Amino acid sequence: MSVTEDTVRLSRDGRALDIIDQTLLPGRAERVQLRTTEEIWDAIRRLRVRGAPAIGVSAAFGFYLAALNALTEDPEEFWRLCTEAGKYLNSARPTAVNLSWAVRRMQSVLDSMRGESVAAQREALRREANAVYEEDKAVCRRIGENGLTLLEPGMGILTHCNAGRLAAVQLGTATAPIYVGEEKGYGFHVFCDETRPLLQGIRLTSYELTDAGIDTTVICDNMAPTVMRRGMVQAVLVGCDRVAANGDTANKIGTGGVALAARRYGVPFYVCAPSSTIDMETRTGEEIVIEERGGEEITSMWYREPMAPAGVRTFNPSFDVTDAADITAIITEYGIAYPPYEQSLAEIMRRKREENGLSGQSAGIGGHS
Ligand code: MRU
Repeated sequence: MSVTEDTVRLSRDGRALDIIDQTLLPGRAERVQLRTTEEIWDAIRRLRVRGAPAIGVSAAFGFYLAALNALTEDPEEFWRLCTEAGKYLNSARPTAVNLSWAVRRMQSVLDSMRGESVAAQREALRREANAVYEEDKAVCRRIGENGLTLLEPGMGILTHCNAGRLAAVQLGTATAPIYVGEEKGYGFHVFCDETRPLLQGIRLTSYELTDAGIDTTVICDNMAPTVMRRGMVQAVLVGCDRVAANGDTANKIGTGGVALAARRYGVPFYVCAPSSTIDMETRTGEEIVIEERGGEEITSMWYREPMAPAGVRTFNPSFDVTDAADITAIITEYGIAYPPYEQSLAEIMRRKREENGLSGQSAGIGGHS
């Protein structure tokens, strides 16, 4: 199986979430079908499906499947069962805002139809989940097109973690400019940080890029400054899990250090962000909840034997916050935001409202218009 298949989708029979199980990669590329809310929650928690956009799409389909499995014809009981399922799905992981964003979207459809027949509500939820899935594909392509305007053929590009196809439905976010560039023969050389402790860079990003025929080199996380210092990298592209209103950005642990090295060596540092990841209600990175995971991910998960003395204390924050000051630009589907981000991100969100038929007003933005 090639990972060019959609990472997440509804199964053919329409009764299951169908995902590529990312815990098995790169050794085995297998799809798995998840039918219950509990199975979907568990898959998000254990990173069988992961990456902010893919988590959002999974939650939307998860909400719909909960509606499908809610065995009642009483509209109030149906509303209660779906609302409970949404809250439960939302608790699977805290940092990626796409999870709560998708659940909120589904909940507002549910709320707007409260009291109508269960069949009508189910159908509206199916349509909304499908819209979240279809939009993700279009959004990633637009990020790819906007991001490509910042790149030159033959560039060395460094990326951290996996913000690729496997983190979205197709194309990914940080990899979208790379894939779109590849379609035009840009011939990029991509460096993938291995991304300790869960190795998304080496296990997932290097896998999908080589699968797509892209020139790929894997490095350990502590080698990123070296490839920059040696002039092997002309741009950094990373994804994000939540962008605060001031531009501070949460992404996989280690991203902040890459940004500091990039600044030191004069390499542009770009965050690729679907507008669903921009959280204008979070003012700064200080307010972003950072998931902490078990210490065994550091001490023993990838080793034949534990690599630390039994009982040693561990600290395993899964994400860090890159300061807005260290980010050259934030690439969205509505254009490219430059500092000061308070203004430019507000302008991006205004464009989004405008494109979706709502209103608003203009700041330092480039790209798609
Ligand atoms: O813990 P993960 O693997 O879900 O973390 C993923 C990342 O940090 C990605 O860079 C981010 O979600 C953006 S994916 C387009």
